[in-house]
This record gives sequence, C-alpha cells and structure tokens, in this order.
Amino acid sequence: MRIKLPPSTQNWLSLIGITIALISLFMIIFLITISQLFLTKGNYLGLFIYIVLPSFMIGGLIVIPIGMLIKRKSMKKTGIRPDGWPIINLNDSRYRNAFFIFTIGTTILLFLSAIGSYQAFHLTESIEFCGTFCHSVMHPEYVAYNNSSHARVACVECHVGSGVGWYTKSKLSGLHQIIAVITNSYEKPIPTPIEDLRPARETCEQCHWPGKFYPNTIRHEKHNLPDKENSEWDIHLRMKIGGAIAAKGFDNGAHWHINSKVKIEYYAAGNPNEEIDWVRYTNLNNGKEIIYTKDENPLKENPENEKKIIEMTCIGCHNRPSHNYLAPFDFIDQVIATGEIARELPEFKSMTLDIFDNEFTSMDTAATLIRTTINNFYEEEYPEIYSSKKEIIDKSIKGLIETTSKNIFPIMKASWKAYPNNIGHLNYPGCFRCHNNEMVSEDEEHVISKDCNICHTILAQGNPQNLMMGNINSQLPFKHPGDVEEDEWNENLCSDCHDGLNPQ
Ligand code: HEC
Ligand code: HEC
Ligand code: HEC
Ligand code: HEC
Ligand code: HEC
Ligand code: HEC
Repeated sequence: MRIKLPPSTQNWLSLIGITIALISLFMIIFLITISQLFLTKGNYLGLFIYIVLPSFMIGGLIVIPIGMLIKRKSMKKTGIRPDGWPIINLNDSRYRNAFFIFTIGTTILLFLSAIGSYQAFHLTESIEFCGTFCHSVMHPEYVAYNNSSHARVACVECHVGSGVGWYTKSKLSGLHQIIAVITNSYEKPIPTPIEDLRPARETCEQCHWPGKFYPNTIRHEKHNLPDKENSEWDIHLRMKIGGAIAAKGFDNGAHWHINSKVKIEYYAAGNPNEEIDWVRYTNLNNGKEIIYTKDENPLKENPENEKKIIEMTCIGCHNRPSHNYLAPFDFIDQVIATGEIARELPEFKSMTLDIFDNEFTSMDTAATLIRTTINNFYEEEYPEIYSSKKEIIDKSIKGLIETTSKNIFPIMKASWKAYPNNIGHLNYPGCFRCHNNEMVSEDEEHVISKDCNICHTILAQGNPQNLMMGNINSQLPFKHPGDVEEDEWNENLCSDCHDGLNPQ
C-alpha cells in the first residue's frame, strides 16, 4: 500500500527529519524495553532515553515542516502552486493521510514527552545523576557523602530543596556548570562557602526542625600520639548541645544560637570559614542587640559591608554534614582503631604523617609514595621488623592507601586543607572564630568566651591504661598530652599548631 502525501513533503530536508525522528523513536522504545527488562539502575542510559534521544526526535520533527515550507516556496516560484495558505482538503486522500499522521503522531509524541520529562526530572534529581554524571568533578563529594550519616538523603534535598523556583534556578546554574565542565574552566577545589546554597531553613530544617531538643551527648575520641609507640590518648567529652536537662530547652548549649529567641549574625572580611570580624546577637524577645568586634568595627568604617552580613544557621557550624574530609592525623587514628593499621609498628603515625605534606598529582602517585616511604623506612630503621613483620607492614600500607583515597582527592584538590569543618576547634578555627575571648562588646561587658567548659566538659582523658577520670557531674581541667604547657596551648588557637598533620 502506498500512502500518498502532499507534494511539499517530497523534499530532502523533511525526509531527513522524518528519518531522524523515527530512528530516535525506535531507539527510545528499544532502550526503555532493555532497561526495564535487564537493568536495575540505568543511570547513563536514562540520560540517553529521556534527554539526548528526545532532543534528537524533537529536532527531527521540527525539520519536517521547515523542509515543507521551503519546498512550498520553491514550488510557488516555479508556478506549480498558487499563493496563500495550503488548502487542507480531507476529501483528498493525500491531505487526509498527512492530517492523520500529523494528529496521531503529535498526540503520541506529547504523551511520550510528558512521561519523558517526568522521567528526566527524576533523573536529574537522582543521586546517581548528581554524584556520578560529571564523574571526576563530583567524585570527592560523592565518596564523602556515602561515608556520612546522610548517605540516604538525596543530594537535591540539601542542594535544591522543593519547589519549582529552586528547581529552575538550580538547573540554570547547572547548565552553566555543565559548560564549565565541558570547557574545563571550573575551579579546583570547588570554592566554598557555596554562595547560592539554599538557606538551611528550607533544607536541613525540613528534617531537623530547630525546635527539636538534643540533650547532652557523650563523645569518645581515640587518638594516637605521634611518638614511637603511637600511644593511645583518649578523651571522653560530654557535649552540651542543648541544656543539661530537657526542661531547660535551648537556654544554653550549642543550639542556643538557633533558639527562636536568638538571632546571631556575622561578617567576615575574608573567608568566613577562617576568621570572623564582627558578630551581632539580637535578643528577639526584647530587641536588644550586642555587637562584638575584635578591634575596630568593620561595619562602621564601611557601611557597604552590611551587604555581606551572614545569618547564623545550621551551616554556620555544620558546614560538612555530608562531605567531611578527615585530616591525616585523624584518618590514621580511625584506621588504627579498626585494626587495619597495626599500632605495633614503631613510629608509624609520625613517619607517615610527613607523606601528606606533599601535594599529590593523582591517587596513584600518592599510593606509590605511601608504599615506598613505609617500606624504605622500616627497611632502613627497623630491618628486623621489616623482615619478620612484612605481612603486617603490607596490611598497614593497604589500610593507609584505602583511607587516603576516601579523604584526599588529588584531581579535584579536595581534602581537609580545602574544606575546613566548622564544628569544633582542633584542626580549624571553627567555634574559635568567635569564641576566642577577643570578640568583645562595645561596652566591654560581654565577650564571646573560650572557657573550656561552656561547650563541653571533659569526663576522662589520657592513656587508657592510666586514664584520668572525673565523674558525670564534675569536670576535669584539660590536660594537653606531651610536653605542651597551658601557657602554650591556651594562648594560641589549637589550629595554630594542629594543622591536620604533625602538630608543631
Ligand atoms: C545533608 C545535606 C547534603 C547532602 C545530602 C549533600 N550535600 Fe553537598 N553540600 C552540603 C553542604 C552544607 C555543603 C557545603 C556548603 C558550604 O560550605 O558552603 C555542600 C557542598 C557541596 C559541594 C561543594 C564542594 C564541597 O565539597 O564543599 C559539592 C560539589 C556538593 N556538595 C555536591 C553534592 C553531591 C553530588 C551530593 C549527592 C551525592 C551532595 N552534595 C549531597 C550539604 C549536602
Ligand atoms: C531528608 C532529610 C534530611 C535532611 C534534608 C538533612 N538531614 Fe541531617 N540527618 C538526617 C537523618 C535521617 C539523620 C540521622 C542519621 C543517623 O541517625 O545516623 C541526620 C543526621 C544529622 C546529624 C547528626 C549526625 C552527624 O553527621 O553528625 C547532623 C549534625 C545533621 N543531620 C545535620 C544536617 C544539616 C546541617 C542539614 C542541612 C544542610 C541536614 N542535616 C539535612 C536527615 C536529614
Ligand atoms: C558567629 C559567631 C559564633 C560562632 C561561630 C559560634 N558561636 Fe557560640 N556564641 C556566640 C555568641 C555571640 C554567644 C553569646 C556570648 C555571650 O554570652 O555574650 C555564644 C554563646 C555560646 C554558648 C553559650 C550559651 C549559653 O549561654 O550557655 C555556647 C555553648 C556556644 N556558644 C557554643 C558554640 C559552639 C559549640 C560553636 C562551634 C560549633 C559556636 N558556639 C560557634 C557566637 C558564636
Ligand atoms: C553554634 C553551632 C551550631 C549550630 C548553629 C547548630 N548546631 Fe547542631 N550541633 C552543634 C554541636 C557542637 C553539636 C554536637 C556535635 C558533636 O558532638 O560533635 C551539634 C549536634 C547536632 C546534631 C546531632 C545530635 C546528636 O544527638 O548527636 C544534630 C542532628 C544537629 N546538631 C542539627 C542541627 C541543625 C538542624 C541545626 C540548624 C537548625 C544546627 N544543628 C545548628 C552545633 C551547632
Ligand atoms: C565554643 C565552644 C567550645 C569551646 C569554648 C571549647 N570547645 Fe572544645 N570542642 C568543641 C566542640 C564542638 C568539639 C567537638 C568537635 C567535633 O565534633 O569533632 C570540641 C572538642 C574538643 C576536644 C576533642 C577533640 C578531639 O577531636 O578529640 C578537646 C580535647 C577539646 N574540645 C578541648 C577544649 C579545650 C581545652 C577548650 C578550652 C581552651 C575548649 N575545648 C573550648 C567546642 C568548644
Ligand atoms: C603550641 C602548639 C599547640 C597548641 C596551641 C595546641 N597543641 Fe595540641 N598538640 C601539640 C603537639 C606538639 C601534640 C603532640 C604531642 C605529643 O607528641 O605527644 C599535640 C597533641 C594533642 C592531642 C593528642 C593527639 C591529637 O592531636 O589529637 C590533643 C587531643 C590535643 N593536642 C588537643 C589540643 C587542643 C584541644 C588545643 C587547643 C585548646 C591544642 N591541642 C593546642 C601542640 C599544640
């Protein structure tokens, strides 16, 4: 049977359009069938089925009428066709065929594209898409994310949130990012704080509302000192997240800052993860304000800076809820605790820490450096151990390489150096950006305190064989390990000496 069509359809352009559209349609149907039957997670395939192929199909369909128009024009010139609009005469079988093909085709297309765009929406919201599409770019965040307590929370829950407005906004900025990836013009490491991150109120607070009371919790930290024995040094802290008892609510403790009666704002001339220069505390009950500064008030000097004031939200402290890159000092401790690195290898910690002073160009060079440094060290310094405990050395090398690959990402330059964690104060300024005894109110009556007991109390500390103990209601004064005296550790910020490697 021959389907007759209007003469204007007989042109090369429309023919090409029809071919492209048909091939795309068949490929889409074919791939959907395959992915439904055989694949559980078709991440890249989804990209083809719902984004790439439909674009080709629509492109092909657009070309068909363009070809017909051009053809009509040339037919008019040669006088075959009269002027004016085409006459659609349904009694003429050619026009009838064209009409039915067009209407039925369009209906099917619209139906498919409705399903397609819904699938495309889901695809671009999926963790696989966010975490693996630009594989090397998002690799560090994806790995850290999978090791975090939010590994089951979709990327978009924190980065986009709900609502059409933020969806379009994020897809537009995503487009700009895709161009940056294709042209390789993005920054490494990706700079933070992220400026257009959706406010915590609309993301974190969807799951953790600020009114949720968290009581005090006990933290048990295990460290190993950079000495010959890699001696263990433990610290047990009672963290004052909320008040000591639930009835006290948020009147004190770390979550006081997000209390509904309190508003904290800050301004930083440089990177707010490093240093804060101005803080305003507003008591929302009585409207009273206290402004704390180090020396001069940077906002009085230049009122333009008002625009850079940041309100303290969850992310002011929890800026690494999902992508925390541990420093070598800490990730080595973790792996010693699990037994994957043997504590019995003398000087293991202090010797391996120096490796991380290097900038690696790739994970392979890092692995090679780790392997050769450790082997050479024991071969030269402890030949007996090197020959008798080769297996343990090999296992520890493996453990160290593995943990390194979860925390340091040479290609994207992502590591503890690039991404400070603002909770705490050991390796980064963190809480001490404000709590440093130097941020003072104008009348000098108030100071943001560095008192070691306002945020936590120490319940026990020291080597587990010889642990100094307090009890649950009392607190121990902090004892710094080694021979660092109080006038040294207390006069500086901890992070002045603790840079994630060997503390100086
Ligand atoms: C629990 C919330 C949360 C989830 C889930 C989450 N992120 Fe993030 N992400 C953040 C926060 C907070 C920041 C840091 C913001 C800042 O410092 O300005 C961030 C930062 C980033 C950055 C900037 C670079 C960096 O390391 O700071 C990238 C890229 C990123 N996230 C990608 C992802 C991807 C991909 C996923 C999913 C695999 C994901 N995020 C899941 C909260 C989240
Ligand atoms: C979709 C829900 C969801 C969103 C959005 C979310 N979280 Fe969580 N978060 C959770 C769940 C569930 C847990 C508990 C995990 C557990 O108990 O192991 C958790 C645990 C935490 C913890 C305690 C564990 C830890 O890692 O220290 C913190 C802190 C936290 N979230 C902060 C945040 C911040 C900050 C944001 C916003 C950037 C955020 N969360 C966004 C669901 C969410
Ligand atoms: C942007 C500045 C800023 C940062 C960063 C900051 N704080 Fe505060 N904090 C304040 C101010 C201001 C006060 C009130 C000081 C006063 O009493 O005059 C305060 C008070 C407190 C209090 C005492 C509440 C009470 O009355 O019992 C605790 C506990 C606390 N902060 C914990 C933390 C912890 C933990 C961190 C880090 C995770 C932190 N803060 C980071 C500004 C800050
Ligand atoms: C001033 C700093 C600060 C701010 C702002 C802050 N937190 Fe926290 N939060 C802390 C500290 C400190 C802890 C205890 C962490 C630890 O033990 O390491 C904590 C613990 C938590 C925990 C874990 C509780 C548990 O039982 O382990 C969750 C969940 C949490 N915060 C969520 C939030 C959310 C959501 C927001 C914003 C609404 C927020 N925090 C704002 C400092 C802060
Ligand atoms: C403004 C609040 C605040 C003040 C003041 C403060 N700390 Fe902390 N400190 C924290 C938080 C929060 C953590 C937990 C960090 C984390 O979750 O990793 C912490 C952790 C610690 C740890 C355990 C670190 C680790 O990784 O094992 C020690 C030790 C410590 N603090 C000592 C001190 C000493 C000594 C002082 C007094 C000079 C002090 N802190 C003052 C908030 C504070
Ligand atoms: C003057 C430099 C200096 C300052 C400041 C300093 N430390 Fe240390 N810290 C060291 C050195 C050096 C070691 C290693 C001690 C050893 O070899 O036994 C160390 C080790 C530690 C350890 C045991 C292992 C580890 O690093 O986790 C803890 C915990 C610690 N310091 C906490 C703190 C805290 C908390 C502060 C701030 C209140 C602080 N230090 C300030 C130099 C310093």
